[in-house]
Amino acid sequence: MGMNRTPLIAGNWKMNLDHLQAVALVQKLHWSLKDAKHDGDTVDVTLFPPFTDLRSVQTLIDADKIPFGLGAQDVSVHDSGAYTGEVSGAFLSKLNCGSVIIGHSERREYHAETDEIVAAKVAAALKHGLVPVICVGETSEDLEKFGASAVPVSQLETALDGVAADAEIVVAYEPVWAIGSGQAATPEQAQEVCRKLRDVVRAKLGDDAADSTRVLYGGSVKSGNIATFMREPDIDGALVGGGSLKVDEFSSIIRFQKHVGV
Ligand code: 13P
Repeated sequence: MGMNRTPLIAGNWKMNLDHLQAVALVQKLHWSLKDAKHDGDTVDVTLFPPFTDLRSVQTLIDADKIPFGLGAQDVSVHDSGAYTGEVSGAFLSKLNCGSVIIGHSERREYHAETDEIVAAKVAAALKHGLVPVICVGETSEDLEKFGASAVPVSQLETALDGVAADAEIVVAYEPVWAIGSGQAATPEQAQEVCRKLRDVVRAKLGDDAADSTRVLYGGSVKSGNIATFMREPDIDGALVGGGSLKVDEFSSIIRFQKHVGV
């Protein structure tokens, strides 16, 4: 966990929970944190529900003043027009979304998103006032061939092409082999890659950006291992998939600062 960077715990719901289930989960999560007397100022929480849930979740968190950020899981490279099925960053901003996940490995794999498409989506997000949460990570094949950091470093270099030095971004290191596998990276491995990703931010955007950008780890994060990641100097938070769908589990992940031995 780095200097002056508020930790960020992000929940990527992927294609889970309809809008009714979403509202129930957000309410329960809020109550769970209240019951635990969690201090919301010490950690940022952002939820990334499916598109169809965004309006319901936004209405709920605005009405009840629930201190969670809201984000989408993808954005179009286009502003508007004949692009059936796409969602514009302008629409997401209108819904009070503050951020958007870009380049998740599942989009790279199932929707053929290249590093260039990812870069165009980063530009689209920034254009519409959304913080891009840029996901990078190596497959197990990449790991064998090139080691852990080469592919994520090169993915991030392309994603940051054309980004202004003062743009707010978040970087998420998600080794593909660790996603949904129950086999998280070790904190030492994750730290090493996150440090190199911060070096990329420094080289492309400068010292201020490198010092203020939050770099997250993602891949089989659980209440039982979150604290070990958060101890590392270049890991500023987590992008959580499966663990963000269960109220008690996600609540405990958010309260990592209270875990024994931290
Ligand atoms: P899991 O936490 O389910 O491994 O998913 C990680 C992820 O892909 C978050 O974007």
